[in-house]
Amino acid sequence: MTPSVDIADIATSRHAAKAFDPAKRIPESLFEQLLALLRNSPSSVNSQPWHFVVAASDAGKARIAPAAHGPYAYNEPKIRGASHVVVLCARTDIDAAHLNALLAQETRDGRYPDAAAQEAYRKSRAAYVELHRARRQDLPHWMEKQVYLALGSLLLGAAALGLDACPMEGFDATALDAELGLPARGLKSVAIVALGFRGPGDWNAPLPKSRLPAETLFTLL
Ligand SMILES: Cc1cc2nc3c(=O)[nH]c(=O)nc-3n(C[C@H](O)[C@H](O)[C@H](O)COP(=O)(O)O)c2cc1C
Repeated sequence: MTPSVDIADIATSRHAAKAFDPAKRIPESLFEQLLALLRNSPSSVNSQPWHFVVAASDAGKARIAPAAHGPYAYNEPKIRGASHVVVLCARTDIDAAHLNALLAQETRDGRYPDAAAQEAYRKSRAAYVELHRARRQDLPHWMEKQVYLALGSLLLGAAALGLDACPMEGFDATALDAELGLPARGLKSVAIVALGFRGPGDWNAPLPKSRLPAETLFTLL
C-alpha cells in the first residue's frame, strides 16, 4: 500500500509562524479536525489530564493577548492576528472525581468486556497516579507531559491540513490563568497555540529548517 501522505515532508516543511494574516480564517470544518486531534491525543493510562480553551473571535483572543506582555510582548501580535487560538491547560490534580469520570466514559464507550476488566484497569490507573503523586512526587509535571503530546499532535495536524501555527510558552501564565478563571476550575495554562495563515511579517517562513544531524540524534542498535 502506498501511503497517501508523506509525513516527513509535512514535518520538514512546517515551521513556527511568526506573523499571521488577520484577514484569513480557518474554515470551521478544518478547525473541527484540529479539535478532534486534541480530543483523541494519547495520554498515559488514558488520564486525559487536560482542557483546551479555544478563542475564535476577536473578543476571545483579546482576553488571551494581554498575557503576552513585558518580555513576551513579541508574541502578542501572533495571538491577535491568528484565526484561532488554543490555550492548552493541564489539570492541577487527578482527583477521585476525574478518575471516576474516566472510568465511566470508558465503560460507556465499550472498553470493558466485564466488571473484572474494568476493576483491573481502574486499579492500574490509580496505581500510576499514586506513583507520580507519592513516590515520584511529579504529578503536575507528569500531567504537563501529557499536554505536550496534545501540543505535538496539534502542530503536526495543522501542518498536514495546510495551516500555519505558532506554539508559545512565552506568556505570563499567572496572568492568563487569572483572566480565564483557571485555578477555580483546577486548571493551569501550559502553552498557547496560534493557528491560521502566515502573514507578510512571518520572517521564519523563508528561513531554512535547522535541526541537529540524524547521526547525533539516532542510535541504531
Ligand atoms: C513548547 C514550545 C514553545 C515555544 N514558544 C515559542 C514562543 O513563545 N514564541 C515563538 O515565537 N516561538 C515559540 N516556539 C517555536 C520554536 O522556537 C520553534 O518551534 C523552534 O525554533 C523550531 O523551529 P520550527 O518550529 O520553525 O521548525 C515554541 C516552540 C515550542 C515547541
